[in-house]
Amino acid sequence: MKSTDFIVARHNLQDCKFIEARLPDANALADETLLIKVDRFAFTANNITYAALGDQLKYWQLFPAPENFGIIPVWGFGEVIASRHPSIETGERLFGYFPMATHLVIEAADVSKRGLRDAAAHRQGVAPVYNAYARVGGDPAYVGRGGDYQALLRPLFMLSFLVDDFLAENDFFGAARVLLSSASSKTAFGLAHLLHTQRPSIRVTGLTSAANVEFVRSLGCYDEIVTYDRVTSLPPDSPVAFVDMAGNSELRANLHRHFGEQMRYSGQIGLTHRSLLTNEPELPGARPTWFFAPDQMRKRAKEWGPGGIEQRFGAAWSDFAPTLAGRLAVVEGRGLAAVKSVYLDTHNGHIRPDQGHILSLWD
Ligand SMILES: NC(=O)c1ccc[n+]([C@@H]2O[C@H](COP(=O)([O-])OP(=O)(O)OC[C@H]3O[C@@H](n4cnc5c(N)ncnc54)[C@H](OP(=O)(O)O)[C@@H]3O)[C@@H](O)[C@H]2O)c1
Repeated sequence: MKSTDFIVARHNLQDCKFIEARLPDANALADETLLIKVDRFAFTANNITYAALGDQLKYWQLFPAPENFGIIPVWGFGEVIASRHPSIETGERLFGYFPMATHLVIEAADVSKRGLRDAAAHRQGVAPVYNAYARVGGDPAYVGRGGDYQALLRPLFMLSFLVDDFLAENDFFGAARVLLSSASSKTAFGLAHLLHTQRPSIRVTGLTSAANVEFVRSLGCYDEIVTYDRVTSLPPDSPVAFVDMAGNSELRANLHRHFGEQMRYSGQIGLTHRSLLTNEPELPGARPTWFFAPDQMRKRAKEWGPGGIEQRFGAAWSDFAPTLAGRLAVVEGRGLAAVKSVYLDTHNGHIRPDQGHILSLWD
């Protein structure tokens, strides 16, 4: 039996192709092992960032590929098509981290009513969230379009939630204005939604490219929108906190020089623009630091106790999810040509911000 895998050259992401990879026969699976059909998954700039940081953050090790190539991880749904685990039946639906492929073999461990873990040796040593699968068969929130929005936004919204929590916990570092770069991205607008709905004293400023201003305005959660070429028009005399999804050294330098000591927090989250200098100069204001989500999660897990994060995150998601259908159209692409085309368009920054792509290698 074979799986079709979409692989990209690790050091030239434009170079990509499909290959066939051997799978064990369904009737020759090892004990506790599941054969999964990767059914559908979301694809956004976040997945390109996984590829850009594949070596550094070990994303390439999750789904092995031929030398110098990698399989990009994606969030989505799979169906168990063969099972050697006594508690898991064929037909069961899982939500989690999958390869861009037609199939995945999982070594099921820690199986509970709600989920399981892939215990494959090559997948260890990464954050536990990347090896966890939720059993979502009976959950209406994961069906149809609702399921597509979960795949597109839920993992990103966890980051939005943690950054909002971190900023609030630190009294926004004395700032009354938060600047978000790549304001049109899903991760940024999730954060803008939280700030807008829960932090009335905070002014939320979206920084974006000229082409995306109208979309950012339509989201209704930014108090003001400024294009990248106009950031020095912002008033420089009051404290600001900067949450950077773009990863653009020139933009960061402009902002730090413009705000000087009023730049009270400068957090690096994303790399949508992938324009970071290897040696950035010293900048005035707060030192730019990477926001490391697992740190904030560990801290809150300890302080809030078992289920504390899930309960608060669940409440925030329940408020956010109903707004999505009015903000983002789901576009489905099926088959190899569609997958390759959306991948390349996302890599090259040609995706409309008002669309969320759900893909499948299956026609
Ligand atoms: N650290 C973490 O744990 C974590 C968690 C979640 C997300 N993130 C990061 O947050 C970022 C946003 O992810 P997302 O999935 O939310 O993004 P998305 O919705 O796909 O973002 C699309 C937007 O990103 C900008 N963009 C995308 N590709 C570009 C390109 N090639 N050139 C220039 N601009 C481009 C454009 O925004 P503008 O025109 O507005 O700039 C575009 O509208 C990613 O880098 C992701 O990895 C990090």
